[in-house]
Amino acid sequence: MTIQWFPGHMTRARRQIEEKLKLIDVAIELLDARLPLSSRNPMIDDILKDKPRLVLLNKTDLADPRVTEQWVSYFADKGLKALPIDASSGHRVNEIQPRAEELMAEKFARWEAKGVNPRAVRILIVGIPNVGKSTLINRLAGRKVAATGDRPGVTKGQQWIRVGTGIELLDTPGILWPKFEDQKVGYRLAASGAIKEEILNVEDVAFHLTGYLADAYPGLLQDRYDLGELETLPDPESEFFGDAVVGVMEQIGRRRGCLQGGGIVNLEKASRVLLRDLQTGKLGRISLEKP
Ligand code: G4P
Repeated sequence: MTIQWFPGHMTRARRQIEEKLKLIDVAIELLDARLPLSSRNPMIDDILKDKPRLVLLNKTDLADPRVTEQWVSYFADKGLKALPIDASSGHRVNEIQPRAEELMAEKFARWEAKGVNPRAVRILIVGIPNVGKSTLINRLAGRKVAATGDRPGVTKGQQWIRVGTGIELLDTPGILWPKFEDQKVGYRLAASGAIKEEILNVEDVAFHLTGYLADAYPGLLQDRYDLGELETLPDPESEFFGDAVVGVMEQIGRRRGCLQGGGIVNLEKASRVLLRDLQTGKLGRISLEKP
């Protein structure tokens, strides 16, 4: 799903979240474990302000586990507890409630001092499109309550979903826009599948991805496409870098039979193969950015 974010959409999305924030105790900021910074809304601190926040790194099944651990430390240094999860399989989703309760400790103590019985923790999930908000809501609810791929600006009556005894979750997530300013961020988002190819050219996305993978995960590229030993790429600033990257893309295309007339590699097809293999995890567990 592609959302065109115009200033009006952003203002509306922000207002909707600010309304919901009044109702809840803890905000869950859902990020993609493969690209936690690029999948972050640029104004998130300003929007959530001092609302207790739990960061969840989703899709860890696709991410490099060592790098995910580095991201957990990165967020810890910033005073944010980050929990790596996989909403598809439910891996570590059961740790969300105790983490949320930890964040509520002060509030619970205040209630207790006033003789008020603690109630369930009220939670809102926020994140950019495709990060897995609906999947997580459905997983927590244990049934399909949230339609995947809903749009900003469409309001419907919202309801609380009871999760076990300790959580009440708003059934509509807060949908935020990603960063657009930085082109590298755009390429990473597109490679992850968060934004569709109509926005960025598929060959450009695959070009940037190949350059990154040949440097960061050469072994995975070699294994998947039977490439033999990959040569170290020239410096990205050098005039030879582009040819070297296209050379790797051509090798991939050749191995996968992406050819057009005259034995020439069809780079667009090769690009789609590479992106699909990355997004479905066939290339291996890959993080697209490191702290
Ligand atoms: P959103 O509400 O934030 O927009 O995201 P949504 O839940 O719709 O999830 C977007 C895509 O990400 C879905 O795939 C979903 O299955 C996938 N996804 C969510 N969580 C995880 C996870 O932990 N691991 C993996 N590998 N994938 C995850 P889709 O192809 O768009 O749809 P479908 O295949 O589920 O039909």
